[in-house]
Amino acid sequence: MKKYEGGSADITFDSVRCIHARECVRGLPAVFDADRRPWVDPEGASADEIAAVVRRCPTGALHAIRKDGGAEEAPGPATIAVGEDGPLWVRGAVVVENNDGAPIARDTRVALCRCGQSRHKPLCDGAHTDAEFTAPGCGSTDPGNGAVETPSDPEELTFHTVPDGPLLVSGEYRLHRDDEKPSHEEGGALCRCGSSRNKPFCDGSHKRVEFRAE
Ligand code: FES
Repeated sequence: MKKYEGGSADITFDSVRCIHARECVRGLPAVFDADRRPWVDPEGASADEIAAVVRRCPTGALHAIRKDGGAEEAPGPATIAVGEDGPLWVRGAVVVENNDGAPIARDTRVALCRCGQSRHKPLCDGAHTDAEFTAPGCGSTDPGNGAVETPSDPEELTFHTVPDGPLLVSGEYRLHRDDEKPSHEEGGALCRCGSSRNKPFCDGSHKRVEFRAE
C-alpha cells in the first residue's frame, strides 16, 4: 500500500487491487497521471474533487483520507454488478472473509473474481482478460450510479469463501445482471470458478471442473 500525502487529502493506493479501470486518470488527470512520477499528486485538486473521483474506483485500490475528517460513506443498499466478461463489482458496506472467518477486505468497493483465474482470489486481479473469460453482464462497473438511499449505517454484505467452491453471500443486495432493472436478492452462492451454467450463481459445476481455491 502506498500513501501520497497532500494538503487537503492523502491518497492511498493498493497496486494489488488495481486492475486499471482508469476511472482515476480519466476523471482527474491533474491528480492521477500514469505517465508522471509519482503518478499521484494530491495537490492537483480539492478534497471534494479527489473524493468524488476516488469513489469511482471500482476495486477499492484507491482511497482518500480527507484532512477535514470527512469519510467515504458506504452506499446503501449494497449492489452487486455482474461485470460483462469480468468480475463482480460490489459496492456497499462490504466484508470479504475466508473460510475461517478471517477478514480479507472490509471496504465500500471491491471487485471479486468470477473467472476462477485470479492469483489473488477471491479478489479480482484482472486475469479474466488474459484468460479471455466471456460471460454476459453489465457494461458499467456502477450501474446503480452510486445510489445512496440509506447512507447511515447500511447493513453489511458479507462474502465468505468456500474452499474449491463458491462465494457465500450474507445480506440483502441489488443484483445488476445487465444494464436493465436490478433484482432484489438476499444471500446466495455466487460462482467463482467461471463454469456455472447459471451465472452469477453457483450450480455445482466447480466439482465437474475440479476448481481449486482456498
Ligand atoms: S463456484 Fe462455479 S459453479 Fe460453483
